[in-house]
Amino acid sequence: MDKFRSMANVDGLITDAADAKIPLMDRGFLYGDSIYEVFRTYKGIPLFHDEHWARFENSAQLAHLGLTISKDRMLDEIRRTVKATNAADLNRDVYVRYIITRGEGPIDLFPRPELTTRFVILVKELPEWKQEYSSVGIRLAIPEIRRNATNALDPNIKGGNYLNNILGMIEARALGADDCVMLNNSGLITEASTSNVFFIKQNENILITPAKAAGHLRGLTKAAVEKICLENNLELRAEDITVAALENTTECFLTSSTKEVMPVSSLRLPDGNVLSYPKGGGDMTRQLIQHYIAFVDAHIKTHEHLCLYK
Ligand SMILES: Cc1ncc(COP(=O)(O)O)c(C=O)c1O
Repeated sequence: MDKFRSMANVDGLITDAADAKIPLMDRGFLYGDSIYEVFRTYKGIPLFHDEHWARFENSAQLAHLGLTISKDRMLDEIRRTVKATNAADLNRDVYVRYIITRGEGPIDLFPRPELTTRFVILVKELPEWKQEYSSVGIRLAIPEIRRNATNALDPNIKGGNYLNNILGMIEARALGADDCVMLNNSGLITEASTSNVFFIKQNENILITPAKAAGHLRGLTKAAVEKICLENNLELRAEDITVAALENTTECFLTSSTKEVMPVSSLRLPDGNVLSYPKGGGDMTRQLIQHYIAFVDAHIKTHEHLCLYK
């Protein structure tokens, strides 16, 4: 049987991912002038395909980027790329990243109207998170660097420039953590480098997550957790979360398309104190992990027609 190959598709040309080429003058490369989405498959079925496309269209609109590729064409191109990976024969799920760049042009920040957008698709194996991330939990630290202000760069533009989050991640790693949780300029919790964050409040058994205004990407996994809470009568509040309020939290977890619901084992505060959370997630986190598995299962059962193996 052929082995799995990570593949890329640049404007319709499918190659091994390692051989894919983008021209130097592409604005995605020069300025991060691009938008993207990432999803993973379950049994070959893209999770939340419609929701990802809706967010992609919203990013395009916020970035004044005219989409010249339709949802159907993008899915066809993704399907062709997945086919080339041998994932279907191997019955393996994949990570899919699709990107639109504003295209190639002269060095000039102003995006001239004659620019033509470029699409790029990357299909690779799912990320292999360290086993401890699920058995124990991921370790977080709050770095000094603050999350971009929402009136400087709307976090709902899922764009190709992650320098703010990269700097947060570098600082967190230097502090001995695996990932960062960033504060905004008012000192409120926003999100992790590529995930949303939730906490459980001591004594009350209430879930809390940063309110929209704090500034974070509206994650689709976060939206799924919100629905799960509603369906299961679990109280969830979106509120301003200060560092001081964290002292009264008993559990913490991250959500993202590839991390799913991931327990957090510790959180380093700016003063150097480290909060510890239950190994492998407390009761509520473990409940939500199970609910999320069931939620994904129900979603893929109703979206079998989208299976990328066919
Ligand atoms: C900055 C940021 N926040 C949150 C998320 C989580 O979003 P989702 O659950 O849709 O994967 C991501 C995912 O890439 C992200 O980049």
